Amino acid sequence: MAIKKSENLADWFDQRLGIKALTKVLMTEYWVPKNINFLWSFGLVLATLFTLLVISGIFLLMYYKPDTALAFDSVNYTIMQEVEYGWLFRHIHAVAASVVFLVIYIHMFTAIYYGSFKSGREMIWISGMVIFVAFSAEGFSGYMLPWGQMSYWAAQVITNLFGAIPVIGPDLVVWIRGDYVVSDATLTRFFALHVLVIPLVIMGAIGLHMYALRMPHVNNQEGEDIDFEAEARKFKAGDKKRSKVMPFWPTFMAEDLFVVSGFLIFFFYLVFYHYGFAMDAINFLPADTMKTPPHIYPEWYFLWSYEVLRGFFFSMDLGLIAFAIANGIFFLMPWLDRNPAVGPAHKRPYFKYWFWILIVDLIGLTVYGKLPPTGANAYIGFFLSVTFLLLFVILPIISKMEKGKK
Ligand code: HEM
Repeated sequence: MAIKKSENLADWFDQRLGIKALTKVLMTEYWVPKNINFLWSFGLVLATLFTLLVISGIFLLMYYKPDTALAFDSVNYTIMQEVEYGWLFRHIHAVAASVVFLVIYIHMFTAIYYGSFKSGREMIWISGMVIFVAFSAEGFSGYMLPWGQMSYWAAQVITNLFGAIPVIGPDLVVWIRGDYVVSDATLTRFFALHVLVIPLVIMGAIGLHMYALRMPHVNNQEGEDIDFEAEARKFKAGDKKRSKVMPFWPTFMAEDLFVVSGFLIFFFYLVFYHYGFAMDAINFLPADTMKTPPHIYPEWYFLWSYEVLRGFFFSMDLGLIAFAIANGIFFLMPWLDRNPAVGPAHKRPYFKYWFWILIVDLIGLTVYGKLPPTGANAYIGFFLSVTFLLLFVILPIISKMEKGKK
């Protein structure tokens, strides 16, 4: 059924299904600032990646066996070699699981750069951080499922960390593992978390994230406080050029879908030609409880916090405290940044340096997180870890000093 020229999509749905109120809310009555760039499309890129992960995951679930005796073969033999296109679903899932973290980091640091986490947008930020933590748990539990050497040993190292928590630590480790050692019980419970519990948490948190976005609307490149109702009236009255907003549908969505399409070309290029980066060669060896790999490291997206843990090589306790701080500190961004003005980093006298030092430091931590922590590496890792922590100590001070300064 073709859409007549005079109709918009909301009218089209209303005439056929009688759901105009809903489509109006969803499509026509949401306004977006004009002054935004392609980085504001990464939220939709994330939603697309999450959908791809769920769909490819459901197909993998049809053949995967959550049993230490069968898991490795069910992935590496059944899915990869016997099931038609099984390899495709595995590659889509593995590449999406890796790339989603790259996109989450871009999305997070865009928000930090433009100050989109403050002034009424705190709830968007907090729900985003909940998504990030849930995705981290999802990545970790998924890494265990093929039951390869890295799956087993990473589970061993990470679950062991909880043992350092005072008083309850040792019991907590046994409770998490479901056994005294990482075993079949551990694999089965991480499977349940990976395919059901954590995806539900992620879906709930995404719902909250979207809901939280409705009232303050998205920020813009200048951090300008826009009167959306007045600007929307201007737009509807025909003064489209001078209005500072554009309708969500179809204008903003057209831009968003353009970016998503470009991203999908890049994504499927990786899936078909460069999927190797998303899988660790050592994980193609079945888990062997008697043979520790010479060098255990997590996936690239956890390397920065892993390096903060190892950075304090002379004290495991200090390393663990620093690691706990590193994982929680970003939640506090809206309160650590004491400059109430919203604006891009390049217009803030001190924050612009803070932001880029943080990025360089995080890249450095990621690079050194993969190297063996011996010789000079250990000291560089220590320096980078201390710098990371100090950046968050000085943020409230420098942001307060910025008030009133251009
Ligand atoms: C699957 C994960 C996620 C999805 C689907 C998602 C989706 C979206 C969408 C559609 C937007 C509006 C447009 C845009 O700016 O892109 C948005 C904005 C935002 N997101 Fe996310 N997001 C996710 C994860 C995160 C994470 C991990 C954080 C940070 C911790 C975060 C923080 C924000 C903030 C602060 C905004 C407001 C940006 C602004 O006002 O300009 N999001 N998100």
